[in-house]
Amino acid sequence: MRRLFPLPALPTDPSTPPPAAGDPVRDREWGLDELADAYAYPERPHSASGAYLRANMVSSLDGAAHHDGRSKPLSSETDMRIFGMLRGLADAVVVGAGTVRKEGYRPARAREAFSTRRAALGQPPAPAIAVVSASLELDFSAPLFTEPLVPTVVITGARAAEDRVAAAKAAGAQVVRAGAGPSGRVDVAAVPTALAELGYTRLLTEGGPRLLAQFATAGVLDELCLAVAPLMVAGDAARIANGPLAAEPERFSLASVLEDAGFLFTRYCRIYP
Ligand SMILES: NC(=O)c1ccc[n+]([C@@H]2O[C@H](COP(=O)([O-])OP(=O)(O)OC[C@H]3O[C@@H](n4cnc5c(N)ncnc54)[C@H](OP(=O)(O)O)[C@@H]3O)[C@@H](O)[C@H]2O)c1
Repeated sequence: MRRLFPLPALPTDPSTPPPAAGDPVRDREWGLDELADAYAYPERPHSASGAYLRANMVSSLDGAAHHDGRSKPLSSETDMRIFGMLRGLADAVVVGAGTVRKEGYRPARAREAFSTRRAALGQPPAPAIAVVSASLELDFSAPLFTEPLVPTVVITGARAAEDRVAAAKAAGAQVVRAGAGPSGRVDVAAVPTALAELGYTRLLTEGGPRLLAQFATAGVLDELCLAVAPLMVAGDAARIANGPLAAEPERFSLASVLEDAGFLFTRYCRIYP
């Protein structure tokens, strides 16, 4: 893997030696610590909620967010490494119920590689998974709810069926209501605050596209880590954000680009007005 952006200043002296081993622009294996340093959460989030919401998504060259309903065919070993590393930095992973059902989500695991870093920040050994769902049509007997290291959070709206709420709680989930509207939907703008109130401020959303579209248009998405896979899939799969049109296109600035085996690992941060 090598860094394509930002590049160090070009040497003006032709006798300058080539980049040393460990230089980020050289094509080489990156250690997990080095990757984690490159993706560290900001110390002081911009939002008044105190939370910072980062998204991690993968897209094909032609914009598909999945192939035949799964994102794995678009991924690579390095993409999965970055996916795992981003989890290793997060307090909570926010995910839509559609992705939980399609991808068979399991609890996040504790990884030795991140234990010192997490302990120093006062984080539990693994991030909590926070599932956004209105219907609560979730399998509460699954390991996601019965075997997590940190209780799974279920974020739902005001009109969630009481028997489903009771089933979630009986399985050990923490149920949070975010959204008072009659639609019964979650007000996604309230999600970062709701999670910050549980002590989770380093947030990572893994989508899916319908949830990400709402975060983006609600103006609460601080960062997008977008992996561009060197693949064409055609078909009619959704893009990484599939939902209501933003009133105005929201501008992000490029923070970094890494490249590995033709995959581009981009990181864009929101520009605040
Ligand atoms: N390329 C990638 O990086 C990536 C990442 C993730 C997923 N994917 C792919 O995307 C597909 C699934 O995505 P998706 O867009 O259909 O699903 P999604 O965004 O993960 O989930 C949609 C579901 O989330 C819940 N939800 C979303 N917004 C809500 C709100 N405001 N209030 C209450 N509940 C809300 C609803 O659950 P209920 O129906 O339970 O109410 C809704 O049906 C899969 O094929 C997956 O493989 C790709």
